[in-house]
Amino acid sequence: MRSLFSDHALIDALQRQFAIHWHGHHGIAHWSRVRLNGKELAVGTDADMHVIELFALFHDSRRLNEGIDDGHGSRGFELAKQWQGKYFQATKTQMGLLEFACKHHSDGVMDGPLTAQICWDADRLDLLRVGTMPLAKYLCTAQAKDPQQRERSNKRAKAWSEHFAAGRFFNA
Ligand SMILES: [Fe+2]
Ligand SMILES: [Fe+2]
Repeated sequence: MRSLFSDHALIDALQRQFAIHWHGHHGIAHWSRVRLNGKELAVGTDADMHVIELFALFHDSRRLNEGIDDGHGSRGFELAKQWQGKYFQATKTQMGLLEFACKHHSDGVMDGPLTAQICWDADRLDLLRVGTMPLAKYLCTAQAKDPQQRERSNKRAKAWSEHFAAGRFFNA
């Protein structure tokens, strides 16, 4: 299946409505790494990759700041709901999973369907971009706790944060 990340109309629309730094800590590069983490975590499971991609794109899409931003997951899902059928297709089950995953991605909930747990882990495995080492006790799945997986994800997050700190991204 073609990745939603290569859908220019969708990515452009997300960028147009994004309120904070597109190349910052919660922007497109983070979303891409969440997708990649999620893809790696989903290997060999029956997790729904379409939901994971939608989560990667929408979970932080309606943030209003780079810090504690209550309700941003729910707002992200509301945007996805508005755009379903226009920019992407999803079943009722997939939208239900997306709503659950978006809503609870930053409130400490760890119980839920595997697809949602993979979404949360994929997000948390990118924490080193802001200098926070992801701890196993905050990861839901055995796949995410795997030392090799954590090393891979940490490496990507760290590499990005070094580029960012060096000012290699323009402030669009
Ligand atoms: Fe978030
Ligand atoms: Fe995030």
